[in-house]
Amino acid sequence: MKSETETTSGQASEQTKKLFIKTYGCQMNVYDSERMAGLLKPLGYTQTAEPEDADLVILNTCHIREKAAEKVYSDLGRIKKNKERKEQSGGEMKVAVAGCVAQAEGAEITARAPIVDMVFGPQTYHRLPEMIARASRENGDVLETDFAVEEKFDTLSTDREIEGYSAFVTIQEGCDKFCTFCVVPYTRGEEVSRPVDAITAEVRMLAANGLREVTLLGQNVNAWHSAPPAGTAGDGWGLGELVRHLARIDGIERIRFTTSHPRDMDHGLMAALGEEPKLMPYLHLPVQAGSDKILKAMNRGHTADHYVRQIEEIRKARPDIAISGDFIVGFPGEGDDDFEATMQIVEAVGYASAFSFKYSRRPGTPGASMAKQVAEPLKTERLARLQALLEQQKQDFNKAQVGKVLPVLLEKKGRNPGQLVGRSPYLQAVHADLPERLLGQIVDLRIVDTLSNSLSAQALDDRIST
Ligand code: SAH
Ligand code: SF4
Ligand code: F3S
Repeated sequence: MKSETETTSGQASEQTKKLFIKTYGCQMNVYDSERMAGLLKPLGYTQTAEPEDADLVILNTCHIREKAAEKVYSDLGRIKKNKERKEQSGGEMKVAVAGCVAQAEGAEITARAPIVDMVFGPQTYHRLPEMIARASRENGDVLETDFAVEEKFDTLSTDREIEGYSAFVTIQEGCDKFCTFCVVPYTRGEEVSRPVDAITAEVRMLAANGLREVTLLGQNVNAWHSAPPAGTAGDGWGLGELVRHLARIDGIERIRFTTSHPRDMDHGLMAALGEEPKLMPYLHLPVQAGSDKILKAMNRGHTADHYVRQIEEIRKARPDIAISGDFIVGFPGEGDDDFEATMQIVEAVGYASAFSFKYSRRPGTPGASMAKQVAEPLKTERLARLQALLEQQKQDFNKAQVGKVLPVLLEKKGRNPGQLVGRSPYLQAVHADLPERLLGQIVDLRIVDTLSNSLSAQALDDRIST
């Protein structure tokens, strides 16, 4: 993924430039940051973990909640000092703001933070080398906020350097759902699916590099659809068909996907969850709220009952599935009874993990101008109650694994000597005392205990642990 010690082959060391990337927000940004680093490598940029003397700083930003967006400006304040220090000693530092804040705020960013040299939105990264050349040549600001996602997919499907055994692969970008609280349709544009052949080529390449697990990414990943590969019978493919197709690639043992929308959860995908053993029994299916009135105001396009029935059907297909979700408390108009409905849906579903947030008013979204905004202290109180319940459910789910034998993909060394850390099928972190030679393997381990955010496990056989 990143390589801090390596220099680009064939390049004199004085030509090696230091690149610092900070990633905020969702996994899509993680994937994009990695691809940006890959695109810049042939230009002599090597990633560094130290922002102080970087030649190029990229902040890959998130606009989802006010706090996430404001964090970028406080970070820019710190970077300004580094840049000034570097310039005083005769050096140069280019500063770029990428990602969803760049898309949403565009030129406002340079007005508020004049040290920024480049602002570019998520669909323009394939033009990065050209933008950097322009920023150096013209010594002025570069602003790129087009939507060119197909072009981006084409360019970014080239080779990847990966450390570890699990990787993200973007298969879909953008969103047409327009939930009234959310900026994503404005920052990532309309829903676009990446073609099967490009995805297959990338996953094959990852498998050839020793990867064992892929997580297919999309803002609405289960809205993915495409023509089947050339020579394959049938009409359009959905995510269920894609997963079964990718599962045939040798070396890939585990497939995950995120984030799904209840409106796009089709029967093909549910059947695949029941039948395809490489598809992991974990589903992130956000519901946001439990009250039909609020779901309607959010423009989610389904009722609470529809969601609960969907979960029942999925559990029928895959009884051990772990369900994860996202929740927003304090959406405009949320009364006490609406909030109680959210607590009830959580009780009814039982979540293995979840993310929950206070509603944040985002400029330009319909929710921001709705009447009956909820007071901050009430949001805080509701969030605390919801999080206590979700935390309890998570602990219960983790405790229920104790005594079971689970296959664990061993991904890296743990904090303590002799320890390895991996993931259970349910995405829980699992650690165990095991020899390093097992890294990259999927090993059956007995779960012996739970800690606040992980499980501890033991080998089944003494011979394996030495
Ligand atoms: N595409 C995904 C989620 C994208 S954003 C989906 O449809 O579920 C990730 C999460 O951030 C959302 O699920 C939502 O819970 C939260 N979120 C989005 N906008 C928000 C806002 N304005 N205030 C608080 N939370 C928000
Ligand atoms: Fe945002 Fe809704 Fe689209 Fe998810 S489905 S990205 S929450 S608009
Ligand atoms: Fe944030 Fe953009 Fe992802 S707003 S959550 S980085 S799509």
